[in-house]
Amino acid sequence: MVDLKQRALGRFFEGGVAMLVAALLVLGLATAVSPEALAQGAQDSLREVAPESPTGGTVPGQSLGFNSDSEIWRAVREGAFGAVSGPNKASGNLIQSEGDNWRAIRNGPLLVYGGSLVLGFIGLTALFFLFRGRIRIDAGPSGRTMLRFNGIERFAHWMTAVSFIILALTGLNLLYGKEVLIPLLGKEAFATISGWGKIAHNYLAFPFMFGVVMMFVLWVAHNIPNRHDIKWLLIGGGLFVKNVHPPARKFNAGQKLIFWSVILGGLSLGLSGWALLFPFTTTFFADTFAVLNVFGLGLPTDLTLMHEMQLNQLWHGIVGFIMMGVIVGHIYIGTLGMEGAFAAVGSGHVDVNWAREHHSLWVEEHEDFMDPAPDAEGPGRAQPAE
Ligand code: HEM
Repeated sequence: MVDLKQRALGRFFEGGVAMLVAALLVLGLATAVSPEALAQGAQDSLREVAPESPTGGTVPGQSLGFNSDSEIWRAVREGAFGAVSGPNKASGNLIQSEGDNWRAIRNGPLLVYGGSLVLGFIGLTALFFLFRGRIRIDAGPSGRTMLRFNGIERFAHWMTAVSFIILALTGLNLLYGKEVLIPLLGKEAFATISGWGKIAHNYLAFPFMFGVVMMFVLWVAHNIPNRHDIKWLLIGGGLFVKNVHPPARKFNAGQKLIFWSVILGGLSLGLSGWALLFPFTTTFFADTFAVLNVFGLGLPTDLTLMHEMQLNQLWHGIVGFIMMGVIVGHIYIGTLGMEGAFAAVGSGHVDVNWAREHHSLWVEEHEDFMDPAPDAEGPGRAQPAE
């Protein structure tokens, strides 16, 4: 009996202590994290986000325990910065609204106009082929050749060309792969292709840039505009009619346009690509805008690193598309479009009649580049057996 009484008392006592502790805890928490304190804390940190609410709206029934304010949440939605105690001040930006704009442009105009530009260039090239056919050597091949590009020039050309083509294809995959390749190849194949494609895109940027620098060093002296270029441009390089061949040195005006597109486009692709490869480390756009503002353009220079990333991505895409368009035309002329051209970057030796028609002044200046005539005798030529 005594035992039972003692146990009942013990339980009562234990229960009482537990309740006391619980009550103290609740009281403590209540004072530390009272609805008023929470509301005060939240409003303190967001005070700078939005001005005093005109409504001072309170959640009906105090269900959240503190004031809710549509003005504050509207400001948060529009990308306002709140105060944060951590080192990363950017985390005070709960919703980065410019991200919406960036995504809308990337998934809208960039995809539509970029793709149309490249398809447009392919279409124009096809039209040109239908209209003009293959540009032949008007005088016919002479059978005698001359050195057009040496080994270093051809190495620079092909390093740039091969890396550019892979960069272009893997870049297009980043933009269109999901829509185009998944239905064709399935998700697994697309994932494998995209995984390797991303690695290729990151690493091939370096040989591409190296090739662009090599081409610049090797060919810049031959690509300074001169008076012959004006005539060349005025008659469309004679590309549209037979037997018309404006004079040109090593490179004609059309090739100079290609050269400068590759150099300036390559530089721009390289810099914006670098910024994407090492995110949040560059201020290329703010710096460029500051320089351009010398012309009174009033471009914004207080860009956040996030803005820089978004602009870099869009710019990288735009320049990439323009270069792809230009290169489509270039590859056409270098292969199917013009008889005798490919040999320049293939063996390095072109037919002399081709050279006379397209680079007459260069041929006159470089008799020394002539290869021995096929029937000429000399130490380098195979002699028929006696
Ligand atoms: C299959 C791809 C390509 C072919 C067949 C090709 C063909 C050619 C040919 C035949 C020439 C020499 C023309 C001459 O002797 O006058 C040339 C020059 C040149 N190529 Fe390419 N090319 C290709 C891709 C590229 C790419 C991807 C780039 C750059 C991204 C490029 C940049 C250049 C430049 C800057 C020149 C010197 C300027 C000119 O002749 O237009 N090429 N290419």
